[in-house]
Parts: sequence; structure tokens; C-alpha cells
Amino acid sequence: MKIFLFLAFIVSSYSYAQSGHDHQGDAKKKGDHHSEMHDDGHHGMGGMMHGGHHKLDKTTLKQFFEPLPASIIDEKKHAALIALGKKLYLDPKLSVNDTISCNSCHQLNNFGVDSQPTSPGHEGKRGGRNSPTTFNAALHIAQFWDGRAKDVEEQALGPILNPIEMGMPNEAAVVDKLKKIDEYKAMFAEAFKDEKDPIQYKNVGKAIGAFERTLITPSRFDDFLKGDENALNDTEKRGLQKFVHMGCANCHNGVAIGGNSYKKIGLVEEYETSDVGRFAVTGLETDKKVFKVPSLRNITKTAPYFHDGSVKTLDEAIEEMAEHQLGRKVGPGFVEDVKAFLGALTAKDSK
Ligand code: HEC
Ligand code: HEC
Repeated sequence: MKIFLFLAFIVSSYSYAQSGHDHQGDAKKKGDHHSEMHDDGHHGMGGMMHGGHHKLDKTTLKQFFEPLPASIIDEKKHAALIALGKKLYLDPKLSVNDTISCNSCHQLNNFGVDSQPTSPGHEGKRGGRNSPTTFNAALHIAQFWDGRAKDVEEQALGPILNPIEMGMPNEAAVVDKLKKIDEYKAMFAEAFKDEKDPIQYKNVGKAIGAFERTLITPSRFDDFLKGDENALNDTEKRGLQKFVHMGCANCHNGVAIGGNSYKKIGLVEEYETSDVGRFAVTGLETDKKVFKVPSLRNITKTAPYFHDGSVKTLDEAIEEMAEHQLGRKVGPGFVEDVKAFLGALTAKDSK
């Protein structure tokens, strides 16, 4: 019970963090849960800070988290489309000087990232943002740090024409280039059987997006959510409790442990950044420094952190989060336990 009371404290103290109820899928369930907690809210905070030994019950877990589905695309039915998407994802020919592919910045053998603060494009120039992982990205409410593309299919069309990234001059140039390659002629025809002229720019996005939908990475935490109590060790379980008790799960929740809402960086304690975040998309003053809450799946493998890649270690990221999002100073005990829990979100078999 104490867990619920402590959550009630967090929820009422930081109600902005909950605003919008943009949590995918189970927003309603979660909302209901909060109002129940508010009904109990006449109790004080006494003892709750020491609540680490209280187990999270199944209901609480279900209200925050959801295991990954077995798949989010019919891989048999779309086999030709996915095979084409994978080839395109790995192909530097999608860049103006045949040097950069999606895989240069989102490496499939490196948890979908390039491990750099910001990424060099076809001329070695860098943008201002860190390359997020493509793993599990298809589950997010929208793509990019500011959510400016609606899904992975739309997103994939951006970097090819981005002058800093892959630098192709226009859509027609991409289509012309692909039409000169026999293998693509055959693969597009196979993937888009009903279309007379299958090599179209939008179809490049459809194929790459379909491939990205296969990049979902079940972890031990999913086994735990499905009922395998032994899937997490004691440190990881303690870390999970702290993650929820402290309020991290108010933002990092759902099937991707994030990726399902937009929140301000520096919600409680001001955070310095020149990036206006989602303001660039909506033009709303209240969206300044608002970013998509990142998914924490595979997070121990995707350093450096934050939208600008300025945070080198996960320890530091956890400390900064506690301070800026929750107004709390945390010690090494908290950091170690939460880090252990986050490690249980890593892919069981690395793709
Ligand atoms: C030069 C490096 C670079 C290349 C090449 C590149 N990306 Fe990215 N990618 C980035 C950066 C940086 C961002 C974040 C930009 C932002 O949010 O404004 C990003 C964002 C994304 C996202 C959003 C993930 C999320 O969590 O929001 C996806 C998906 C993605 N890229 C897929 C691709 C695909 C597919 C290609 C190839 C067509 C590609 N990228 C090529 C650097 C790159
Ligand atoms: C109010 C919402 C909110 C709360 C609460 C919150 N986070 Fe975050 N978290 C965010 C946002 C937004 C970002 C992206 C910040 C940025 O890049 O500028 C983020 C980023 C992160 C990152 C870096 C992810 C990446 O890919 O770079 C980690 C790790 C993280 N949070 C862990 C935590 C932990 C641990 C807690 C609890 C101590 C926590 N967060 C609490 C919203 C929140």
C-alpha cells in the first residue's frame, strides 16, 4: 500500500509530468489508477522514502509496463518487403557519394546506434542531435527527438535527402539511381507486386519502415512481466522498485519503457540546452525544451545520452534525470540498483 501512497505523492507533486495523458494504449487505465491514488492521498510521506523493501505487486507493474508483443509485423506475409528494406537500410548507394547508409549511424550490430554524441554525414559534418537507436523505434508515438515524423515509414524518407546526412539532391535522383540497379528492379517488383512502377520514393520508406518493424528486442524484463519471477535478480528487482518509487516510470513507461509521450527536460530543475525541442514542430511556447521521452530498452548499450549526446555515462544520465525531472539528489546506491534494472532491458539475443 505504501507504494501507492508514495506514487500519489509523486503524481500530485509533479502533475505536469502527467499532463496530456498521451501515454499510448493504456492511458485510460493509468488515469483511473491515478484518481484511485488521489482518493487515498490524505496520508503523509512518512516512511515512504524507505519503501525499498516493499515488493511491487502485479497490478502496479501492469499499470506502468507492458511486455513486447511477439511481433508487430507479419514477417512471413511481408518477407519480400522486409528483405528489400534491410538491403536499403544497409546500402550506402542511398547517399550522394555512396558512403553513408542508415546503418552508418544506426548500426545493427551495435544496438542501432553509432556510440557518438552526434553523427558525421556524407561530408563529415554533424547535426546537433544524438542518433537514437532504431531498435524498438517503430513502437514510439512518433519519430525523432521532437516527434516530427509520424512513423518509421515517413521518418526513413528524411535522412536520404538531408543535406548533412545522406545528401541526395531530391526524390527523383534517388529513384533514378535505384532504377539503374537490376537487383533493386527485381526486389521492388517482388515487394510491390500490384504496382506498375514499383520503384517510387515513398516505397523506399515503406520498405525500410517494414524492416525497422522487425527490430524489436525482447528482454528479461519482458519475461518478468509475463510472470517469470526469476527472470530478474534481486538487485534488478530492487532497481525496478526504486525506478517506480522515485517516479522515473511516470515518464518512462509502456511497452518501450518510454517513447510514448513528450516531456520537458528540466521539469523541476532548469536544464541548460539551446535545443528548443518540440517547439520547432508545434510553435507552442509550452513545448520549448520538450522532447519525446526516450525508450530505455537497450539503454546500457546506447551511450552517450540525451538529445545532444552530451551525457557520457548512464550513471550521470540517471543522476541528471533524478535532479532535473524529479528534483531529487540520488546517491550511488540508487544509481547502481536502477542501472542494474535498466540492464535487464537489454535484448536477450543481440540483433
Ligand atoms: C548521419 C547519421 C544518420 C544517418 C545516415 C541516418 N540517421 Fe537516423 N537519425 C540520426 C539522428 C541524428 C537522428 C535524430 C534526429 C532528430 O531527432 O532530430 C535520427 C533519427 C532516426 C530515427 C528516430 C528514432 C527515434 O527514436 O525517434 C529513426 C527511426 C532513424 N533515424 C532511422 C534512420 C534510417 C532508416 C536511415 C536511413 C534512411 C537513417 N536513420 C539515416 C542520424 C542518422
Ligand atoms: C518528467 C518526465 C521524466 C522523468 C520523471 C524521468 N525522465 Fe528520463 N527522460 C525524460 C526525457 C524528456 C528525456 C530526454 C531528455 C533529453 O534528451 O534532453 C529523458 C532521458 C532519459 C535517459 C537518457 C535516454 C537516452 O537515450 O539518451 C535516461 C537514461 C533516463 N531518462 C532515465 C531516467 C531515470 C532513471 C529517471 C528517474 C530517476 C527518469 N529518467 C525520470 C523524461 C523523464
